[in-house]
Amino acid sequence: MWGVATASHQIEGGNSNNWSQFEPSSKSQQLSGEACNHWERRSEDVELITNLGVSHYRFSIEWSRLVPSPGEWDDEAARWYSDLVDELLAKGVQPMVTLHHFTNPIWWEERGGFERQENIHHWVDFCTQMFGLLSDRVEWWCTINEPAVYTTMGYVLGEFPPGARSFKRARTVALNMMRAHAQCYRALKAMNNGARCKVGLVKNINLFDPYRRWNPVHWAQASLLDRMFNRCWIKGVKTGRFRPPSGLRSHFIEGLKGSSDFIGVNYYTHLLATPFMPTKVEIDPLIRPWEARTDFRYPMYAVGLRRAFEMVKGLDLPIIVTENGVADDDDDMRPEHIRRHLQITAEAIADGLDVRGFYHWSLMDNFEWAEGYDQRFGLYHVNFATQQRTLKDSGKEYQAIVKAHRTPQVVIMAGGLGTRLGKMTKDVPKSLIEVSGKPILTHILNWAQKQGCHNALVLTGHLGEAFEGFTHQGMSVHFHKEASPLGTGGALWNARDLLEERFILLWGDDLHPIEYKPLLERHAESDAPLTMTVTQHHDSMNLHHENGLLQTYNKDEASSQFNGYEAGTSVVEKSVVLKNRVDGVWSWEQTIYPALSGKIAVYLDDTPFWDMGTPERLALLEEFLEKTAL
Ligand code: FCB
Repeated sequence: MWGVATASHQIEGGNSNNWSQFEPSSKSQQLSGEACNHWERRSEDVELITNLGVSHYRFSIEWSRLVPSPGEWDDEAARWYSDLVDELLAKGVQPMVTLHHFTNPIWWEERGGFERQENIHHWVDFCTQMFGLLSDRVEWWCTINEPAVYTTMGYVLGEFPPGARSFKRARTVALNMMRAHAQCYRALKAMNNGARCKVGLVKNINLFDPYRRWNPVHWAQASLLDRMFNRCWIKGVKTGRFRPPSGLRSHFIEGLKGSSDFIGVNYYTHLLATPFMPTKVEIDPLIRPWEARTDFRYPMYAVGLRRAFEMVKGLDLPIIVTENGVADDDDDMRPEHIRRHLQITAEAIADGLDVRGFYHWSLMDNFEWAEGYDQRFGLYHVNFATQQRTLKDSGKEYQAIVKAHRTPQVVIMAGGLGTRLGKMTKDVPKSLIEVSGKPILTHILNWAQKQGCHNALVLTGHLGEAFEGFTHQGMSVHFHKEASPLGTGGALWNARDLLEERFILLWGDDLHPIEYKPLLERHAESDAPLTMTVTQHHDSMNLHHENGLLQTYNKDEASSQFNGYEAGTSVVEKSVVLKNRVDGVWSWEQTIYPALSGKIAVYLDDTPFWDMGTPERLALLEEFLEKTAL
């Protein structure tokens, strides 16, 4: 997942909750007010997200909007979030929902918020309502964002509402947040779609290191803070027993053990520990002499992200970086910050850590809690006077990296009528024929989606009308038709404006369930303009390959030299299409393959492909799909 993240109160504007109440007395005394006015600019902001090319967007749902007073439910607000989900999905962006991101309705805060165990069910009710509404479309759910930050900032450092400074109250809140998380997890998992959806906790990992490495007292302090801020929470989810920070004993929490399908990691920095650390955020934290301070005054420390992964590894859960970013007003540090943290993430994945995604904090500059508008975390600059959004250089950098690394667009040749299927395809394109209850095109898209593709371009030939009304949830699918049949090459040339720089080419009447990742890696390593998948197990052969390259291709006439058969799924650089500028009818395979022989990389994979060229083969495909759930 390549993502960006936000939180409701930081961007929506016009909220009335425990935070808006607290703001006049907060450190910056700035009011969130209109914030990014996202509530009014939803569609425009979805455009900003799509423009980055990301596949996922993490946002939070503002409980105080849904339940402004006890027992009330605002359908209109619910619809707003539901529409946001639809808009994202229509653009091929998968939503990730956070159910608690620091804010509470005022009535609930007045009843003591997380200080009272008997308040928890109100929040869980809200969660189940939202899950009921959105879980048919939203797969990824975060229960609580950063319980340790909420507890520490609100009840120890006094910087977040309610501005308390009491270890005792903090302990109660910590305990109840873990209870709330566990109850929420269990409730959602028991609902419709619960088994299918992924629900997890989001943990901020703040590393603590000794200021003086030779000083055992500093080591002890670092380790104490680490246990309080990080380890006890992780251990809670692992074992079901939670000892709140500064607490003397651990508590068994019903349902807590194993209460996460993934672990969200928010990572920003490390702090250097001495026994005399400031308990006020105004005082600059200690840093190493070679480290660079971010605007937040803490240092950029990218290798810490790897240490954060190692810290949660023992949970044996998929890891998702649900937040990482930097406060950097003039955007001179953020590009490097992004590169370093992505590098660390890539290395961790290469070393076998199960990191599934990376969400940059944040999409755009926003209301940074106690810091107000002074700390800018966005990939887009926001002018808060005019609400104008402008992509920063770092945003362009992230966009370029995402575009180069996310799974490419799939392009599906779906125009064929399939003469051998007789009357079945007289007026139905082959790709729309139902196999095992669904059009083959749906099966093809399901597979591509599973492989991480979010954008599909379907070339419908001259039968475009037949595809009207076809939808596929969670992918953005574009259809492109031709006025008259153009052949496979002509179809691609005709759609050139819709092609991404690199795309995966599939045949609309073949199901070829291969893993895309090794194919894409082979393509990237080979530097070839085109990489084709070749099977060596086929009843006929149509090509000769040697040294990893296609040497000869002939669809019509086999030669005794032939040692492979083109299986479908290939990776194509758009430049191949553009170089062969020919209008009208032409065949892709018969033009490009001979012309590029000796240059086309061959990727060997013997996974069978299933075509439906004849009634017999259609029956075999049907049988395969009955057996294998894609
Ligand atoms: C995290 C919060 C997020 C944002 C970043 C900078 O702790 O989850 O809302 O404020 O810090």
